[in-house]
Amino acid sequence: MPQAGKSIYELDTPTLLLDKDKLESNIADMARFAKENGLMLRPHIKTHKSVHIAKLQLEAGAAGITTAKIGEAEVMANAGIKDILIAYPIAAKKKVNRLINLLDQGVHLKIAVDNHEQLELLDQLMSQSPHQLEVWIKVNSGLNRCGVEPGNEVVKLAIDISLKKSLKLGGIFTHAGHSYAAPSMSEIEQIGLLEGKAVAESAEACEREGIPIAVRSVGSTPTYKIAGKVKGINEVRPGNAVFFDAIQTGLGVTDIDRCALSVLATVVGKYRNSRLVLDTGSKALCLDQGAHGNKSVKGFGHVISHPEITIERLSEEHGVASIDGETSLGLNDVIQIIPNHACPVANLFDQYVVHQNDKIVGVWDIEARGKVT
Ligand SMILES: Cc1ncc(COP(=O)(O)O)c(C=O)c1O
Repeated sequence: MPQAGKSIYELDTPTLLLDKDKLESNIADMARFAKENGLMLRPHIKTHKSVHIAKLQLEAGAAGITTAKIGEAEVMANAGIKDILIAYPIAAKKKVNRLINLLDQGVHLKIAVDNHEQLELLDQLMSQSPHQLEVWIKVNSGLNRCGVEPGNEVVKLAIDISLKKSLKLGGIFTHAGHSYAAPSMSEIEQIGLLEGKAVAESAEACEREGIPIAVRSVGSTPTYKIAGKVKGINEVRPGNAVFFDAIQTGLGVTDIDRCALSVLATVVGKYRNSRLVLDTGSKALCLDQGAHGNKSVKGFGHVISHPEITIERLSEEHGVASIDGETSLGLNDVIQIIPNHACPVANLFDQYVVHQNDKIVGVWDIEARGKVT
């Protein structure tokens, strides 16, 4: 068990580290942006998957949380967090039964809807329970994953929801995940503006038909500060911004100094002064190198204070790195690596070892890791 007060460099590796000061500053920054712009904040907890961090975000002013999985929502609800958007299209009976359990516990739950068949199924299944299920219409703002097209299709769904006794419409939302493939900050800005407009204009179209839309929600870490300023938007849902990572710095969204999550690694081999092997393979770092077409990250993680090192490939237990010129690193040296993508890396560990200036200050569980259903 890591001991408070000790140096992180005494820990066994690989270990997941969380810089408390950077985390707190990232949480405060999201909350400040929301407050200054009169927005509600509903951070996506898929990034950290931790009850403790979700509660820090709520204490900082978040109105509720977003999850992707019912399992994540169940963990958070059991810990007393009661305002949850499951931003995922759900229609299967076994899943709806779990939603009903959450409603029985008093959770203010909402889920994503994006088609008429789903509405029909949800209405039938929910009619077996005493609850009305709050649904938010998911709009496609360019990611081309889930969601209806903005405008007319949203209005048709909104009218259909108003006719279903067991459903109620609470909001319209979108996620501009395609911002991760944008080659420049100016393209990210364009995507953010369209993200905001897709939701705001759909909400206006519904209101012209006499259907009020209480929540108009947007958010991806690259775009939420742009989309959140579009007139008519009243909620943002950043996820990754709680930690940031090398993909975000590659996009130009933030600086490496604001990345709160790192993996502590040990050099387990040095070969012909040109290759290092680290004990961080794909069981400790992720294979993600950013969205297709975006070449802004170097290797499989940013090695702090060692620009001469590039992690070229990962097998499960080995990270193989090249050395550009000379390096002081040798066998048993310990380094910190900022992962390319923080969210899947947090899913690989049971705990964060929390530190301030490299001194351990706590250990926080990652309770919702591995909750895939
Ligand atoms: C629906 C939804 N909202 C918000 C987010 C948060 O995005 P990001 O982690 O880029 O902030 C995601 C991430 O996948 C998402 O799917």
